[in-house]
Amino acid sequence: TWNMHSFVERETEEIRKKVGKYKVVCALSGGVDSTVTAVLVHKAIGDALTCIFVDNGLLRAGEREKVEEMLRNNFHINLKVVDASERFLKRLKGVHDPERKRKIIGGEFIKIFEEEAKKIEGVKFLAQGTLYPDVIESISFKGPSATIKSHHNVGGLLKRMKLKLIEPLRELFKDEVRELGKELGIPEEILYRHPFPGPGLAIRCVGEVTRERLEILRQADKIVLEEIKKSGWYKKVWQSFAVLLPIRTVGVMGDERTYEHVIAIRAVHSVDGMTADWVKLPHELLERLSNRIINEVKGVNRVVYDITSKPPGTIEWE
Ligand code: XMP
Repeated sequence: TWNMHSFVERETEEIRKKVGKYKVVCALSGGVDSTVTAVLVHKAIGDALTCIFVDNGLLRAGEREKVEEMLRNNFHINLKVVDASERFLKRLKGVHDPERKRKIIGGEFIKIFEEEAKKIEGVKFLAQGTLYPDVIESISFKGPSATIKSHHNVGGLLKRMKLKLIEPLRELFKDEVRELGKELGIPEEILYRHPFPGPGLAIRCVGEVTRERLEILRQADKIVLEEIKKSGWYKKVWQSFAVLLPIRTVGVMGDERTYEHVIAIRAVHSVDGMTADWVKLPHELLERLSNRIINEVKGVNRVVYDITSKPPGTIEWE
């Protein structure tokens, strides 16, 4: 629209003036807000922007490749991908407590981001996809937005590195960010993505996070996403995903007794993540999900559906 067009003109001009001859760094999560921020800032200052994407080993299937394809190949944005899965998994070894998982992941993320940002000569700004609701609420640690802002220690990072913030979305609501993204040529597939938490699959892997358990969860999650999209339900729900439970149950396969993992499926309606209703997915869809997960994911012999709303349950299991 004309409004968004002039917004882009105004914002890019302002960013250019503010940045001058210096460099800008941006933490990319692959979500809507950080992607729109990156593309807008890139439009303003081109290669003076470096985006950093930390692969923490807790991502959904194909996520890293999608981000690389989008930003590097489509938008020609300077993108640094850090493969840090070893580091995260090592720190998460033996950890079961959800809050400790979050702290470890948030802390490790900031450390890695800082290490990488320091390598950039002349960096003086951090671009961040803060939205208007985040500004007025100064969103909590466990908020609905999965960007750097949900990590509690970004303040320390700014101080230590003497960085100033660039927040071009700070006056916008989510639907306006999507409109802006459209104006910037970002595909709808990205603009209408479900939220994904910063700690990633770690908080959907109830109990200890190991490479093996993550792989089971990742495969099940991929099937859930595929089928939810194919059935047309993706656009109708707020979030949908798989959760790996920390128990095994008995099953039967041919003449054999099995003793394997359980996958829970979660799908919720919500407007802001603060409250949520479980989605009455059609039984045929649930049946397909169950059959596919059990047939295709080695190590799973049972699938259950979560019928808890928020409150009393949270959307995530941890
Ligand atoms: P809960 O589980 O609290 O989740 O009902 C509400 C919304 O927030 C997301 N979420 C997070 N996002 N870091 C994030 O960036 C987190 O630690 C985190 N925990 C939950 C969740 O996916 C849902 O959209």
